[in-house]
Amino acid sequence: MEKGAMVFPFPIAVSCLFIIFHFANSVSGSLVFNFYAASCPTAEFIVRNTVSSSSSSDSSIPGKLLRLVFHDCFVEGCDASLMLLGNNTEKSDPANRSVGGFSVIESAKRVLEFLCPGTVSCADIIALAARDAVEIVGGPMIQIPTGRRDGMVSVASNVRPNILDTSFTMDEMINRFSDKELSLFDLVILSGAHTIGTAHCSSFRDRFQEDSKGKLTLIDKTLDSTYADKLMQECPLSASPSVQVNNDPETSMVFDNQYYRNLLTNKGLFQSDSALLRDNRTRKFVEDLANDQEFFFESWGQSFLKLTSIGVKTGDEGEIRRSCASTNA
Ligand code: HEM
Repeated sequence: MEKGAMVFPFPIAVSCLFIIFHFANSVSGSLVFNFYAASCPTAEFIVRNTVSSSSSSDSSIPGKLLRLVFHDCFVEGCDASLMLLGNNTEKSDPANRSVGGFSVIESAKRVLEFLCPGTVSCADIIALAARDAVEIVGGPMIQIPTGRRDGMVSVASNVRPNILDTSFTMDEMINRFSDKELSLFDLVILSGAHTIGTAHCSSFRDRFQEDSKGKLTLIDKTLDSTYADKLMQECPLSASPSVQVNNDPETSMVFDNQYYRNLLTNKGLFQSDSALLRDNRTRKFVEDLANDQEFFFESWGQSFLKLTSIGVKTGDEGEIRRSCASTNA
């Protein structure tokens, strides 16, 4: 034994180790991998199963779940505040009108409440479900830490100051991301979520205008004209407000790097997508991602981890809701 080394009696050493371990896992305020390993070992399996079965009966589910986590995490952090019902909650804000996937989260929650009551948060279910949704449509498999707790605050007026709009300039987008400690690169990577899912005609109407004959014409010349014609056909002025088009006109059902290839050929659906190619700060990223799907997948894993860690509540903060639509009180 080295000179000066201190020897602790075995029980004291074990207690110290326990305290260090316990501190690291639950009091540090951070998320941990396999948080439910002891308390609800089937939690991740149940979420995956629910996402998988609902996606096979409704192909719009993966896109909905992926957008849901974004809109949840950017407002009040990843705490399921978006799921709370009531007057003037986040969900009631028009910016969240077309967000979906809530029933999938509720159905996983119902099973989990039956198996492990009061244990698995809605916030974790949302993050896990989005992770699984990406994998189900061909994206990378990612391990994400858990231990998020559910928030008690959900106010509609918090939505607009936090969520992004398609009319935003690059600087506005960069600022909103940096408010969440997300980088310029994270912005380019997470926008790659638009490789799946759909959009209502109103989301990109700003790229067109009505001419004197009452017909749509393209005003945003950064959009490919053939693609623009196709969009005008799918979304005429007479279209019902419920009409939707694919975000990715080429491989809408697959999570791949086609989104970036679309940007290179001027087929970014939203003004905010096209902006990523136009801006000198992001163009090179777009080109690299369009050329290398592996690079996109690896980067997606890292940016998704950051997205799903925004403002998380852990330890004694928040609560574990019994139902995702309302607080326990
Ligand atoms: C960077 C700024 C962003 C803007 C301005 C934006 C805007 C939009 C808009 C307007 C729609 C169409 C909504 C509709 O008409 O129903 C949409 C769809 C979607 N967004 Fe984004 N988004 C952004 C970033 C993100 C991020 C970071 C994610 C996730 C990581 C994401 C995931 C999605 C998905 C998956 C859909 C399709 C939803 C569905 O199929 O129901 N978006 N986005």
